[in-house]
Amino acid sequence: MLPTTATLYSSNYERMSGNCTRLLATQLISTLTPPITNTSYILDNACGPGIVSEQIKLLHPDARILATDIAPGMIDEVKHVITKNGWSNMSTAILDIRDLRILEDGKFSHVIMNLGMPVPGDPTSGPKIVQEMFRVLKIGGVAVISTWADRVWLSAFRNAALAIRPNEIPDSFMTLAPELLRASWIVQQLEEGGFGTNVEVRSCVTYTTAASLEELTGNMMLAKEMFFSRFTDEEIERAEPILREELAKLRTFERFEGGVRIGMKAWTGVGTKKGDEEEVSA
Ligand SMILES: C[S@@+](CC[C@H](N)C(=O)[O-])C[C@H]1O[C@@H](n2cnc3c(N)ncnc32)[C@H](O)[C@@H]1O
Repeated sequence: MLPTTATLYSSNYERMSGNCTRLLATQLISTLTPPITNTSYILDNACGPGIVSEQIKLLHPDARILATDIAPGMIDEVKHVITKNGWSNMSTAILDIRDLRILEDGKFSHVIMNLGMPVPGDPTSGPKIVQEMFRVLKIGGVAVISTWADRVWLSAFRNAALAIRPNEIPDSFMTLAPELLRASWIVQQLEEGGFGTNVEVRSCVTYTTAASLEELTGNMMLAKEMFFSRFTDEEIERAEPILREELAKLRTFERFEGGVRIGMKAWTGVGTKKGDEEEVSA
């Protein structure tokens, strides 16, 4: 049986992502206006294993955080991290980002969603998700969202799949429609979700990193069910060295002292709830 995106994510998430979402998370939280402080109340929406929360707690240990995700396995990981680090002022909930109705209006100073949108299999979920983020923010609060601008590494999987089964269309579970990779898409979701003209978008660069090309390939192969779902074990074994070669050929592949990495570009969208969203200028 194919894993759902949520179950696939819930184990080995950080290894599979090679730190790329953590690097993005640091950029998201470092450039906020108003900034996060120890008195902020933050919703880490679609929190995964709690990477955004962890980065916040490193800088602002007393900040109050609610971390939510639809995958119980992710929430278990967050609970484990809370206990391990002895964090106070932090709670968790299993919630769908499209429906935060158990959360009151106007409570949060910051709502952060790192790579949670759109919901897999629901490409039109954007405005619904943003409406909920907007609703739970207080006036003066800020929502931050990140989405991918490119996914250069998908072509390496595609080429590896075609090398093994040249006459079969490769799996496309992870493929996003090109319009979802545009800056204009993230702006539109924020506008339609309620932020009106109080919206900004920026680009960010991040990397999936490993100590060696072999390790990087092994990390990425943790997602093999999403790319080689119909392959036999023997075919998957043959695909791995081809994937390794394909990764090394990517435009953004680099070797550096201490390892290798693949560069990726993302968008950061910021919406501020000013309370003037309904005003229409003449
Ligand atoms: C790419 S991960 C991002 C995780 C995390 N924010 C980070 O910084 O790495 C996407 C997350 O969205 C969660 N997710 C998927 N669909 C969801 C939904 N409908 N509601 C809430 N979370 C969802 C998944 O379980 C996964 O943890």
